[in-house]
Amino acid sequence: MSPPPVALRPTSELPGETKELLERFRAETPRTVEDDWAMDTIQKHLAAGNRPGFLLLGPKDEAIGILLDRVTPIGHRLSVLLAPGFRSPPSARAVLVAAESSAELRPLVGIRILARGPPPSAVAEHFEPRGFRFLGREDLELPDDVPLPVDTPANPRELRPLRATDATALARLMFAAYSTDPYDVAIFLEHQDFGEDCVASVAALLSAKYGPWIPAGSFVREVDGELLGAVLTVQNDGGLIAELLVDPRARRTGLGRALLWAAARGLRGAGHRPVRLVFTKPNRPAEALYLSMGFRPPVPPAAGGDWVNLERVGHPEIAEELRLAPSRDAGTASALLSGEGSP
Ligand SMILES: CC(C)(COP(=O)(O)OP(=O)(O)OC[C@H]1O[C@@H](n2cnc3c(N)ncnc32)[C@H](O)[C@@H]1OP(=O)(O)O)[C@@H](O)C(=O)NCCC(=O)NCCS
Repeated sequence: MSPPPVALRPTSELPGETKELLERFRAETPRTVEDDWAMDTIQKHLAAGNRPGFLLLGPKDEAIGILLDRVTPIGHRLSVLLAPGFRSPPSARAVLVAAESSAELRPLVGIRILARGPPPSAVAEHFEPRGFRFLGREDLELPDDVPLPVDTPANPRELRPLRATDATALARLMFAAYSTDPYDVAIFLEHQDFGEDCVASVAALLSAKYGPWIPAGSFVREVDGELLGAVLTVQNDGGLIAELLVDPRARRTGLGRALLWAAARGLRGAGHRPVRLVFTKPNRPAEALYLSMGFRPPVPPAAGGDWVNLERVGHPEIAEELRLAPSRDAGTASALLSGEGSP
């Protein structure tokens, strides 16, 4: 059965309909960190009169969603907000077919159906044959009643506050840290060279891409002029831990945990509650660390993810690793906590 046709119209041509749909999305709770980011971006572009992407029109010319187009040197990365009534696998498939058929969106390297879309398992049969693999993202928060330990495994005095002048060293650390974790790389890759992505990503973080940087919750571990670990926090509906990095040479010494506790203490002390973070799955080391510290999924859980064309982003090897990883519906933090998921 062929999917219902979906037409793409630049949002600048239908600003009223786009705005109205955006307001409906904004009224919905809960949303993921990434939903909020996508909506802010659309809003910003609308206000500036730019073309952020497309309004999706269904078979009866009704607005069924918004597609935010992020153009990168390796291709287009799309974020899709589907309106109520269209959060079904046939609609998701129709959007993918429309996007893949549009010359303006080629090459398409990633598509994110924001959290209220159909579950990944329901659309996999449409996305996987086209070369897209699902990489999940999940929000976690540290409940306010979780006490912060007096002592951390690593001496907190060995940490110092992050400074804007650390940007280059931070990009170097990011490159080293993610060399062991290709999943995050696949989601964020924008340039041909991952080093360039690290530089761009650090610049974006320090210039408020996800919210203003919070120095009180951002720390580094510096040894002989080199950064071995860092945590960076931003203001985003509470205090968001936007990045946690430990150099592979310094792992399993308690540095990741010490950085997180320092960040949580700094954020709470400065009144940024709740302390939140988002992580990409499967990232077992990070997930084990967060859950062991008391981070929990919000109620109800907020999860999303990206369908990434791993061939087009230059990481075909991840497809094989994902094939070996547990099924995409197992292993959510909620399931792990209740003992239902895989360890
Ligand atoms: C995730 C990361 C920050 C952990 O840093 P770390 O300094 O090695 O972590 P710690 O030594 O503080 O580990 C604390 C606990 O986390 C868990 N953990 C850490 N690494 C683990 C691994 N490879 N496998 C399983 N559990 C692991 C363990 O429970 C560990 O406690 P233990 O050593 O007493 O068993 C590090 O692996 C990293 O930088 N990864 C790449 C970047 C990344 O994924 N960042 C998070 C993005 S959301």
